[in-house]
Amino acid sequence: MSSRSVQVGIIGLGTVGTGVVKILQSRAKGIAHQLGAPIQIAGIAVRDPKKARAIEVPAGILTDDPMELVRRPEVEIVLEVMGGTEQARQYVLEALRHKKHVVTANKALIALHGQEVFDAAAANGVGVYLEASVAGGIPIIKALHEGLAANRIERIYGILNGTCNYILTQMSQQGASYQEALAEAQRLGYAEADPTFDVDGLDTAHKIAILSSLAYGAPISIDQIYVEGIRRIQLEDIRYAETLGYTLKLLAISELRGSALSVRVHPALIPSTSVLANVQGAFNAVAVVGDAVGPTLFYGQGAGQMPTASAVVADLLEAARTVLSGRPAEIPLCWDRRKAVAMPVLPMEETETRYYLRMQVEDRPGVLAEVATILGRYRISLAAVIQKEPTCAESVPVVMLTHRAQERNLQAALREIDALECTRQPTVCIRLEADV
Ligand code: NAP
Ligand code: HSE
Repeated sequence: MSSRSVQVGIIGLGTVGTGVVKILQSRAKGIAHQLGAPIQIAGIAVRDPKKARAIEVPAGILTDDPMELVRRPEVEIVLEVMGGTEQARQYVLEALRHKKHVVTANKALIALHGQEVFDAAAANGVGVYLEASVAGGIPIIKALHEGLAANRIERIYGILNGTCNYILTQMSQQGASYQEALAEAQRLGYAEADPTFDVDGLDTAHKIAILSSLAYGAPISIDQIYVEGIRRIQLEDIRYAETLGYTLKLLAISELRGSALSVRVHPALIPSTSVLANVQGAFNAVAVVGDAVGPTLFYGQGAGQMPTASAVVADLLEAARTVLSGRPAEIPLCWDRRKAVAMPVLPMEETETRYYLRMQVEDRPGVLAEVATILGRYRISLAAVIQKEPTCAESVPVVMLTHRAQERNLQAALREIDALECTRQPTVCIRLEADV
């Protein structure tokens, strides 16, 4: 056992910060044994030090001044678990400038400012550790960096947002309303401070931007990614999909297409028999396909206090080992200006996939023929059609599944279909990913 301890400053004592302190308190002996030195919490910065906390912390340890905390000479590692981008960015950069290693759970910070953060880390000879930023407790970043390092990654896809998966599971299994399920996800601590990040797909986009950057050694920015969330999903479509043998999930997909990448986030129907379809609640699953290893799948809790804290503390131990050994920290290839490559990202219109379409059309002869003629003109072939008995006298829902089609063609066809006199509502369109 080393005669010294490793001193840590924590910014944030909310859902994740509380979990981190719980682990550091309950496993203090085991961690000291593993590391060869104890971890000591030098200070915890919060917005309001007077607020009641779910755990006991030593008197005088809370501060409302994160900047002072990250500058303290004794602090060697800073854990940023406060969230948000602008203030978190300033504290993280200041910590790096003061040669502190940084551990962060903040995917928005890394997705938006990864280059700046790693430039500062490289300039100051310290590391930034971000396992908790993607898929909560699943060690997917270490898997990409270490276990799968021999591979050229061909495809990454999966469920990366616990809140959305929780909402969709509750809607499908309990018939819960979207609003009820979201409120429960917030109560359970899965959702971001601003839950629109979750339900509008942005949180998933941050995560797939980070995974794509790490996997392909090229910085992928958030504005290169097509993003569509789950806000407009209706129970009716979940039920039709189930009848047809599909389950609805919010998917992130990043795949090599020649020398370019296709990266997108959107709701998707997937076969109900697939493993991903059976990932429920706040669980996440990430599939990684490598040229040597073939398909692999990583599964676990993607949000919540203790799973996320598990990843933060694992990173803390890695940073502490770096501190104790004095060896230099590594900069990921994608944010290493000497090694990163550039990789174009294809526009969404060039994506090819299958589609679920639900139209509300007039119930009279010739209507299906009008719709089919338009689809045919855009080379969109139908795989299945369901028409239920009319629920109201004058219009009827028609559900179609297409074979593979190009996004550009599909959107053009929908514009024409929605302009037909027989169409009563804008067509609901959900992509169908059969190959998962
Ligand atoms: P949270 O529950 O809202 O907690 C945020 C904490 O940061 C609170 O303790 C708050 O202080 C403190 N804080 C916020 N702004 C501050 C400021 N300007 N100065 C000082 N302290 C400040 O958030 P969380 O759910 O733990 O999430 C934290 C981070 O982890 C986010 O980046 C999030 O994306 C990420 N993450 C969360 C999860 C999850 O399941 N929750 C999973 C993976 C990653 P007060 O307590 O005084 O208000
Ligand atoms: N809000 C995120 C989610 C937390 O629901 O997955 C984990 O990153």
